[in-house]
Amino acid sequence: MADGDMTIGKPISRIDGSKKVAGRALYAAEYDAPGLLHAAVVSSRIAKGKITAIDAIEALALPGVIAVLTHENRPRVAAFRYAYKDTVGPPGGPFKPLHDGKIRFADQPVAVVVGETLEAARDGAALVRITYEEEAFETDLDAAKAASFRPRLPRLGVKPAPKPRGDFDAAFAAAPIKIAAAYETAAQHHNAMELFATTVVWEGEDKITVYDKTQGSQNVQLYLKQALGFKLKNVRVVNAFVGGAFGSGLRPAHSAFLATLAAKHLKRSVRLVLTRAQMFSITYRADTRQEIALACDAEGRLLAVRHACVAATSRNEDQQETIVNWAGLAYACDNAAFDYQLARVDTPTPGDMRAPGAAVGVHVLECAMDELAYAAGIDPLDLRLRNWVEHDQNDDLPLTSKAQKACYAQAAERFGWSERSFGPRTMRDGHELIGWGVAGGVWDAFVAPVPTRARVTWRRDGRLEVAAAASDIGTGTYTILAQIAAEAFGVSVERVEVRLGDSTLPFNPVEGGSWMAASTGAAVAKACDKLKAALVKTARKQFKLRGKSALSVARGAVIGEALPGGAVSLNEILAAVGQDIAATGTNLPDLAGQRKHSSYVHSAVFAEVRVDEELGVIRVKRIVSAIAAGRILNPKTAGSQIIGGMVMGIGQALHEEAQTDHRFGKVMNHSFQDYHVPANADVGDIEVIFVQEHDPDVSSLGVKGVGEIGLVGVAPAIANAVFHATGKRIRSTPITIDKLLD
Ligand code: MOS
Repeated sequence: MADGDMTIGKPISRIDGSKKVAGRALYAAEYDAPGLLHAAVVSSRIAKGKITAIDAIEALALPGVIAVLTHENRPRVAAFRYAYKDTVGPPGGPFKPLHDGKIRFADQPVAVVVGETLEAARDGAALVRITYEEEAFETDLDAAKAASFRPRLPRLGVKPAPKPRGDFDAAFAAAPIKIAAAYETAAQHHNAMELFATTVVWEGEDKITVYDKTQGSQNVQLYLKQALGFKLKNVRVVNAFVGGAFGSGLRPAHSAFLATLAAKHLKRSVRLVLTRAQMFSITYRADTRQEIALACDAEGRLLAVRHACVAATSRNEDQQETIVNWAGLAYACDNAAFDYQLARVDTPTPGDMRAPGAAVGVHVLECAMDELAYAAGIDPLDLRLRNWVEHDQNDDLPLTSKAQKACYAQAAERFGWSERSFGPRTMRDGHELIGWGVAGGVWDAFVAPVPTRARVTWRRDGRLEVAAAASDIGTGTYTILAQIAAEAFGVSVERVEVRLGDSTLPFNPVEGGSWMAASTGAAVAKACDKLKAALVKTARKQFKLRGKSALSVARGAVIGEALPGGAVSLNEILAAVGQDIAATGTNLPDLAGQRKHSSYVHSAVFAEVRVDEELGVIRVKRIVSAIAAGRILNPKTAGSQIIGGMVMGIGQALHEEAQTDHRFGKVMNHSFQDYHVPANADVGDIEVIFVQEHDPDVSSLGVKGVGEIGLVGVAPAIANAVFHATGKRIRSTPITIDKLLD
């Protein structure tokens, strides 16, 4: 690509791709330090109770073991629970690792063993003898939900259940066609490739550099300052590369705390990497029990909608997600009722996982729409179009855009939906039943709710540098920010250097909610405008030009008739100045706009499954997903996000489930062997379509964000395809063979 080419909207390969392929992109556990020590976590054997005795004699006698830290001998930490608050946690008291002898959930960290080598630390951890006094506990949501309650304190960024409208009861009772069903969704674990890992480099004088797997370096910086009593300026957190997180890294993980605690105690550098099994004791997508009721007239027009949910949360915090709201938003309906409740279980606090709330709430809504379509004898795609709405009835606001009709039309065409026969069990290929299912998807089009900053610098070495504390969690943030800056200056992306994932860089919130492209992207664009103005001003001064002569920046030069030769390269200008020139841009949430309209991102998903009639084996043959997400900055990286979401949707529909043995309160399948995420053989042909959507109101770049929408709608499209193939409505995900053959 040459200078001057447009770069926004081009399918540019990741600018960090070669680094990743060559192993030059360093992850948290790959940083080294002189005299680096290794730590290992000892996890609680019981799910609830207290520690009565700790015997670390054997562990400490092991050659290479340096220290065993427990709640009894740890260094002083903050006493108040407020000190453990992070910027994105739900209401309640956050878990405080090694704070006291109380056990609140199975596999809770109870000790950290530090050794000269990883082997010494891990062997030592196996030798710490802990005696417990057990208490009764409950990890089963079906038992806990008898004591469900409505959350009292709201959670930032999560919409409470909408107010009811019209009269659901009367409308439902009078309606000619209706369905009412109970659904359940399983607890899921994020299972990113990269384990939670922290390398704390002790810089002396109570100063640390912390390489951490997190979605927000400055969030972890603030947390470590508060919880462990460091000065903010003495804590630098780096997360330049993150091997996936899916929401598990939104809040600081206990591993970051424990590694830093050990480093502080020993005044040495320490690395801690959790085991895959221990990854299941951080957080999870809450399991839910949902009830949905839909009614329509003979033409398929919705007359009544009710969606209720009970979701798991911990004893100490009220995790909340937007689960039931979508039923009042996706389709036109004047009689609607909602209920959202939590039930406490003895587990770590559930957390956000890709499209939190929508993944499970829209799943149930879209399966129920399919049920209603069959009750009404109307094609499921047609039913959705007959209930089209372009107004947010929950908040009574217009939408900034909704190109979902184009999604349905283009994906249906590509999929061949018109060839489908309506009846279940009507399509087959030998011993395999064929099923075709459709679902719509919807997710928020967020802009970060706090000022988001970026700095751009034209350097004397001829490079354009972009710097922000934003995280690229594998989504392509490096690349799209480079494209935005390259386009602003009319240079090729190769001339742009992007620095991210460092708490010393300009402020950014955690990477979450699919808001980074719209928020940090806008900050970069604003910084570029300011920098261009500064460079023009500098040129004016250098060439002693009067105010009138028009100057602009293009192709890495200042251009204007008054300049010698009509253009002077930025490099020449900087050489004369003798220093780099920088500017900082800030993107603010458009609060006034948010009161005037609502913004969502939409999808339409079509899936084909093949079900072995005798064995009940379900294979996903193909999925077509069309996405309306405003302006697509880079169809290649955005497409990867959607593909990843679709693969995750296959997992949600068919595979992923934390299996807790409620006699022990413990997740039993805590490995990649037993907790199945889709592998190559599980994934059929996947196709992504981006439809045109012009939306100048959603964000200053017209961008909506694509990190999460790719998941929403996939599981219900598959579940509906399973119904179409088999005539069996499985109202519990994952849809496993035992449920299908039952
Ligand atoms: Mo996402 S669940 O906001 O990382």
